[in-house]
Amino acid sequence: EELSLQKTNQSFEEFLSRLPRQRGQTPRFDLCLYKGCWYRPFLLQGVIAAQHFEAQPTDIFLCSLPKSGTTWLKALAFTIVTRKKYSDLSSHPLLSTRPHDCITFLENANQTAELPLLATHIPYHSLPKSIISGGSKIVYIFRDPKDVFVSLWHFLRRATPKDATNISLEEALELFCKGVSTYGPYWDHVLSFWKARKEAPQLVLLLVYEEMRKDPLPSVKNLADFIGHPFSVEEENEGALQKIVDLCSFENLSDLDVNKKEKQQTLSVVMNNKAFFRKGKIGDWRSHLTPDMAERLDQITREKFGGTDLPS
Ligand code: A3P
Repeated sequence: EELSLQKTNQSFEEFLSRLPRQRGQTPRFDLCLYKGCWYRPFLLQGVIAAQHFEAQPTDIFLCSLPKSGTTWLKALAFTIVTRKKYSDLSSHPLLSTRPHDCITFLENANQTAELPLLATHIPYHSLPKSIISGGSKIVYIFRDPKDVFVSLWHFLRRATPKDATNISLEEALELFCKGVSTYGPYWDHVLSFWKARKEAPQLVLLLVYEEMRKDPLPSVKNLADFIGHPFSVEEENEGALQKIVDLCSFENLSDLDVNKKEKQQTLSVVMNNKAFFRKGKIGDWRSHLTPDMAERLDQITREKFGGTDLPS
């Protein structure tokens, strides 16, 4: 498909029209299936354009499914890497800039990155070849699918209220379980990075949202080591790690004007920044899912993650 797209220079629309399509949670955007992953059409265009991205071995990719902690990981990685430049935390860029504007998405092909840090929601098997062959490092954050599902359902209603639909939580769950969610199926996405980690542990770091939420320091220290910006003993003694954790905490970021009051024009829609900061809780699914709904997700997780050391 990709080759023929380049060879015949057919329009993207024609290319899209040949992909399986399904209605997702947001009526304005169907999802289309490309190489086993469901994308919004305008995002797929970026994914395909990104295939030509020339990654350097020194580049670091922050990978995740939407609603798994992407914003948090961007804030942490940015702060770790730039901590010498922005040592005065009282005027730190994160106090006035969205984490999403500190580190750009690979899929947004029209943006250029200043730091050797990029984020992406693309599953491992569809990442640009240069990332895999060039030996770039990958950090993957993932989260309990029940919380990802609930977070996504809220996000799609809050981020772009104009596009919001009355689709019930039950209907949305049906789609999510079938894998029909942006960048889904959830399970295949997580497994793609889990397998990559198994094959090259030196190149892939897995971070678990729940572990980080309960006790951020060890994961953040690990992250800094892995991306080549370890904390010195002196820094540790000065509490530098804790300061970064505090700056990037849900409580701090969600209370900043930039993240709670402003809006953002993205490629296709205007989004409320506050939609990226809802509750930041472990197990908020308990307030939304019936035991049967939760069990349905758990059962798929047990089936798909059986034989791995992933939480199931
Ligand atoms: P909830 O909807 O459960 O609150 P993503 O950044 O991948 O889009 O994920 C968004 C989820 O991460 C939301 O979850 C959001 O509240 C939570 N989140 C955002 N910033 C966070 C932070 N600094 N620490 C912990 N969780 C955060």
